[in-house]
Amino acid sequence: MSIEMREAHPEEFRDVALVTALAFDAGPNPEFLLAHGVYEIFQPLVCLEEGRVVACLSVGPMSAFYEGVEVPFGAVSMVSCLPEERRRGLVGRLLVYALEHMHRLGLAISGLFTPHPSLYRRYGWALAHPRLRYTFHPKDVRLRWLPHPQGRTRRMQEEDWPLLDSLYRQWQPRRNGLLVRSEAWWRKAVFRPLYVPRSRPLEAMVWETPKGGPTGYVVYDAHQRRTDRGTEHLLTVRDMVALDADAYAGLLRFLLSFDLARDIVLIADSLEPLPLAVDESQRLQGGLEVGMMLRLVDVQQAFSSRPSAAPDGLAIVLEVKDAFAPWNEGLWWIEAGGGRLHVIPGRGDPDLFCDVADLAPIYSGLISVREAARTGLIRVKDDKAIEVAQRLIGARIPPGSPDAF
Ligand SMILES: CC(C)(COP(=O)(O)OP(=O)(O)OC[C@H]1O[C@@H](n2cnc3c(N)ncnc32)[C@H](O)[C@@H]1OP(=O)(O)O)[C@@H](O)C(=O)NCCC(=O)NCCS
Repeated sequence: MSIEMREAHPEEFRDVALVTALAFDAGPNPEFLLAHGVYEIFQPLVCLEEGRVVACLSVGPMSAFYEGVEVPFGAVSMVSCLPEERRRGLVGRLLVYALEHMHRLGLAISGLFTPHPSLYRRYGWALAHPRLRYTFHPKDVRLRWLPHPQGRTRRMQEEDWPLLDSLYRQWQPRRNGLLVRSEAWWRKAVFRPLYVPRSRPLEAMVWETPKGGPTGYVVYDAHQRRTDRGTEHLLTVRDMVALDADAYAGLLRFLLSFDLARDIVLIADSLEPLPLAVDESQRLQGGLEVGMMLRLVDVQQAFSSRPSAAPDGLAIVLEVKDAFAPWNEGLWWIEAGGGRLHVIPGRGDPDLFCDVADLAPIYSGLISVREAARTGLIRVKDDKAIEVAQRLIGARIPPGSPDAF
């Protein structure tokens, strides 16, 4: 049997969409993915057997903010294998090919969302951006502890995405992992769910101060659904940015005004202060989600672009084990200089030793070097090495909950 891995040609996009639709149990229906234009954002890679597409995945070349700078980022999505071809190692091979592909494109890191984290963990992606899903009934809580807002909401249309983007860009450097959004991303992935057919865009409101300056926004989906018990109303927050206290209080009050909603769902990062803002925080239901898994595709490039407050000349030797990206394997000399890190091949005894996957939660800021060493995720030479590594590669900005794809 001849197996080939490569980029899909445009005339093969229909086959790719068909395999994806079948893999995700949506029936033999490639139309939605094609009509939604997902391949304008994502480039499909295919696994062909005897010339027939049997598995595929897509890589969206973009950038994400880490430690306040843009890092070239590969968004891996729509990982699919025909049901009849599963557990033959095809997607495993395709993931390795995707790593080589992203390395060739100069994408230093890669993210993905999945219900199968153990599958991707073996190929070097790791939990790095967990999300909290808050669910609450609007009549059960009050924002007793927040000041009364002075500004007001104004309804936005999809065409107003540049205004929302200007607010999002002010928020972006405050969390690690937030994607740089293009116009296509705003239209196809924020105003609409990427992979769920939907005729109209989601609703959006901007928060304006009394003087008229925008300081926040919310994009949300208010909808009804029929259940055995009748019609239920649901409000799901797709995206919310509040740059100041007035916007935070005002937008939350706006959400709580949806008094028909059985549930309001807010997906947030671990720093979301909602439990502190409401009076009866025990009425918030919270669920942990895996969120975005992260992989360092190119360790040298990923750390080379990183700002650093460490004194010039501070350095460590990091040993990386990477079974699927051999260019990462080995010793790396990481040294601070001129406010950023410099990374070159290293020599001698390593100060730190880890699998490439264990670098991802350190890179995102989910875990400190100290905690990773204490819990055995990474091995260190001695206590001094922990402190030096913390100053060099430890994140100073917390992980955000980036756009799902
Ligand atoms: C998940 C999916 C892509 C896996 O494809 P596949 O070709 O069967 O995967 P492979 O055979 O290459 O498996 C590679 C390794 O991952 C393991 N693996 C496969 N599917 C797994 C899963 N769902 N959970 C955990 N591990 C999994 C395999 O056992 C194998 O490990 P091994 O090398 O130790 O034997 C495929 O089952 C699928 O299309 N599922 C439906 C769509 C989907 O869920 N896509 C992923 C969304 S992120």
